[in-house]
Amino acid sequence: MVQPQQPIGIFDSGIGGLTVASALAKALPNERFLYFGDTAHLPYGEKSKSLITEYSVQITLFLLDKGIKHLVIACNSASAAAYESVRALCATHGVAVTNVIDPVVDYIQQKKFKHVGIIGTKATISSGIFQEKLKSTAGLEVHPKSTPLLAAMIEEGFAGTDVSRGVLKSYLSDPVLRGIEAIALACTHYPLIASEVRNYFGGEVSVLDTAQIVAEHVKNTLTELDLLATSQTEPHEFFVSDLTESFKKSTQLFFGTDVLLKAQKL
Ligand code: DGL
Repeated sequence: MVQPQQPIGIFDSGIGGLTVASALAKALPNERFLYFGDTAHLPYGEKSKSLITEYSVQITLFLLDKGIKHLVIACNSASAAAYESVRALCATHGVAVTNVIDPVVDYIQQKKFKHVGIIGTKATISSGIFQEKLKSTAGLEVHPKSTPLLAAMIEEGFAGTDVSRGVLKSYLSDPVLRGIEAIALACTHYPLIASEVRNYFGGEVSVLDTAQIVAEHVKNTLTELDLLATSQTEPHEFFVSDLTESFKKSTQLFFGTDVLLKAQKL
């Protein structure tokens, strides 16, 4: 049986999921996190469902072996492609899984929006998962748009520059997003450009802070499962499948504070 003092596993295709890890660390200061960024296989957003599932299962096995009590798939592309496989695997260890799509779907349904834009990678948007999960919500129309350049642009340090403003303008001016009252940032890299998205829409459109929504959901789930840790005795650990200088440099941007990345082959 899993115990409250065991760590929470978190994974993403790279370091984008650190935006979720950072929101989790704020919401749950007593918890210890084991983060895995699959930097050797980035970007997931351009890969097939079967390949993303294969990588996700390998990472899950690694984290289960490290003794996690809960798993957070901090990547929309992996949540769209691999959630069922990962959930089935974790169930055999008595470990529950949170993905980054269902909490956002619940939030959109509670808010009773009429027109919601969803931006994400090709893998997430073309999977149709948001459209499918929201299709039976009365009075809601979903406006999906894939924005494949954004994650790479953010990784390369272009957030908050003329480059990001130009790329965002080109994507967000797409007629498919006309008339939206809220927009979900369905990629864990995008919280880093949330203010630019907000500025583009001039405050007319609510920008859903998906990292925050997911962190609240994990907190509620751990409370329900009676798995909240009461103190954190050991430091968080951060593993990446390929360790490069550029990832080392960008981690602070994503997590808000320095982290020590360790190389871990899958
Ligand atoms: N962070 C990933 C997601 O949430 C996107 C990056 C990638 O394409 O690997 O979808």
